[in-house]
Amino acid sequence: ICRSLSSSAVRNVAIKHVTIIGSGQMGAGIAQVAASTGHSVTLVDTNDDVLKKAIKGIEGNLKRVVKKKFSDKPEAGEEFIQKALQNVSTSTDAASVVQGSDLVVEAIVENMKIKQDLFGGLDKLAPAHTIFASNTSSLSITDIASSTNRLDRFAGLHFFNPVPVMKLVEVIGTSATSQETLDSLLNFSKILGKTPVSCKDTPGFIVNRLLLPYLIEAVRMYERGHGSKEDIDIAMKLGCGYPMGPLELSDYVGLDTMKFIMDHWSAANPEDPSFAQSELLNKLVAEGKLGKKTGEGFYKYK
Ligand code: CAA
Ligand code: NAD
Repeated sequence: ICRSLSSSAVRNVAIKHVTIIGSGQMGAGIAQVAASTGHSVTLVDTNDDVLKKAIKGIEGNLKRVVKKKFSDKPEAGEEFIQKALQNVSTSTDAASVVQGSDLVVEAIVENMKIKQDLFGGLDKLAPAHTIFASNTSSLSITDIASSTNRLDRFAGLHFFNPVPVMKLVEVIGTSATSQETLDSLLNFSKILGKTPVSCKDTPGFIVNRLLLPYLIEAVRMYERGHGSKEDIDIAMKLGCGYPMGPLELSDYVGLDTMKFIMDHWSAANPEDPSFAQSELLNKLVAEGKLGKKTGEGFYKYK
């Protein structure tokens, strides 16, 4: 009863205040873009040190944006940075900030139980009109949403790394997501300056279902000794016009995120060779070599 009442009685309002949970590479990027486009943003993480680092990163990336957009107007550029930064506040307590939110975007660790616990708790505290969205790369939106009682106001909102640069957002609807919620998210994506595409709630949506089997095949090719990592990367950059080679891109995405996605899919499809394990990927992750974010993956950084 509660569910059907909330579906018919609650109308989504224009998205003005956004709570973003998780201030890692994705959450900080989403916060930067939302704040730059005039939204009031609260960025949430588990501790203040991580949040401080995220704000510093946002400031640095805003400077990159300004260098290009305001190259001949340094004062307007400085004003743009200050305005965007003023639009972002931080918190370590999601429960205390969701009351004022029109949209909650979750970009925390890629783990079903942790995501469900987070949304299940917030569902009791957020206003009825608030839309919940997950930035998950690979998990079922339907399963994450099942921890809440707002199935009509729950969707996937999948950004790409680096968020300030990549123009795509995948908007993922489940069988219960209302058209009004999807329209709000498609519109929000456009206001952020992105191009949205609509996806079904299928593993990997559109991009990752195509990208991950390609990345993992490149890892296996390197493992088989069929090419050096440099040659594999050069080949795909110069042969296909990709901005990064597959091993470079794996480091950029994060080898832990990649392993998590592959493990999850191979457990669900044990017979499918495109999801088969890579010992090298497992080894690098076990050694904490997670790619660019930890300073080493297939390549060394800094
Ligand atoms: N914030 C703001 N601006 C940034 C930025 C950031 N974090 N990173 C790069 N830029 C800007 C630079 O300022 C530069 O701008 P100008 O061209 O105006 O000078 C531009 O982007 C290009 O950057 P660089 O010159 O430093 O480097 P580059 O030309 O090598 O481009 C790149 C970097 C944009 C990351 C490019 O290599 C690229 O597109 N790589 C592929 C990225 C990709 O495929 N992402 C998707 C990953 S999959 C995913 O995200 C989904 C998932 O669920 C796993
Ligand atoms: P990350 O490790 O850089 O950041 C995750 C952040 O979440 C960390 O700062 C961590 O402290 C915080 N966190 C963890 N649990 C939390 C909780 N319960 N409450 C508040 N904060 C919490 O990860 P990321 O690469 O930004 O990925 C985040 C999500 O976005 C994942 O679901 C991932 O699959 C997805 N994603 C990643 C990429 C990518 O290229 N890395 C692209 C698109 C989507």
